[in-house]
Amino acid sequence: MHVAILGAKGMLGHALVQEFQGEEITAWDKEELDITDEQAVGEYLAALEPDIVMNAAAYTDVERAEDEPDEADAVNGHAVGNLAVTCGEADIPLLHLSTDYVFQGTKGEGYAEDDEPMNPVNAYGRSKLLGETLLKETGKNFWLVRTAWLFGPHGKNFVETIRERLNSTTTLRVVSDQHGSLTYTKDLARALHTLITDRAPYGTYHLINSGVATWADIAAEIARLLNKNILIERIASADYQTKARRPLLSTLRNTKRPPLRPWNKAVADYLRNPRASAA
Ligand SMILES: NC(=O)c1ccc[n+]([C@@H]2O[C@H](COP(=O)([O-])OP(=O)(O)OC[C@H]3O[C@@H](n4cnc5c(N)ncnc54)[C@H](OP(=O)(O)O)[C@@H]3O)[C@@H](O)[C@H]2O)c1
Repeated sequence: MHVAILGAKGMLGHALVQEFQGEEITAWDKEELDITDEQAVGEYLAALEPDIVMNAAAYTDVERAEDEPDEADAVNGHAVGNLAVTCGEADIPLLHLSTDYVFQGTKGEGYAEDDEPMNPVNAYGRSKLLGETLLKETGKNFWLVRTAWLFGPHGKNFVETIRERLNSTTTLRVVSDQHGSLTYTKDLARALHTLITDRAPYGTYHLINSGVATWADIAAEIARLLNKNILIERIASADYQTKARRPLLSTLRNTKRPPLRPWNKAVADYLRNPRASAA
């Protein structure tokens, strides 16, 4: 199987490159192929003829997207529509990644794969929803996989930030009213691999580590696992000023695929060797 991985230098992209080592891989990031360049996307994929395209390329700066919604829409929205058309015309299956942030975050029991309406609360979420909409309108054979709250090597992420902060502080103020589905890139990459090899029907999936947590729960668990004595001050989102609003209850429910391991087991695995796959 020849897999083209777009966004290969991102946090998930690195995990995908690692996971698919046994397959033939073409790993591209912006320098090799800017996915907003419609002509280049058409020419490159026509020349490459991969068996599958995995799109992990995205504009992921949630704060900056508030000031640059057009840039976010270009990468997360219109480029995805063009990829969907290009792959559809060439009969190449497309696996595209999306996010819990497409949902408003008001559903206590969590969102299932086909839940609507979505009503994202920030520009990043709206741009990812635009991508989903264009993919569904114009795509042919695709898996749309939503995930959430990613952590892993090769990226700025909450788990790594807390791990580092615990070396220099004994008090942390952490938001405790946002509930989500923390997900390890290594586990997600493996689940995406089996989604493909199982020949799961095309459609929408939620792949996240099991269990629900707040950022404060996660910080407390990291401190416990690292045997650090820490005072965690649990604060409300309203007390932590950010440009972009975050959904409060954006937990995803995976009703279609085997569950991934619980988030705290994944964090423990990561903390045993945080840069394990950093090569
Ligand atoms: N991180 C999370 O917590 C999270 C949660 C839910 C869903 N997701 C989704 O999961 C996927 C992977 O996220 P991630 O955290 O791995 O993202 P990431 O670390 O930001 O990686 C995205 C990669 O895409 C590249 N890129 C940006 N614009 C591009 C363009 N025009 N053409 C080609 N490549 C481009 C980025 O390059 P530059 O860095 O140079 O811009 C980066 O290497 C995304 O679809 C994201 O929306 C992420």
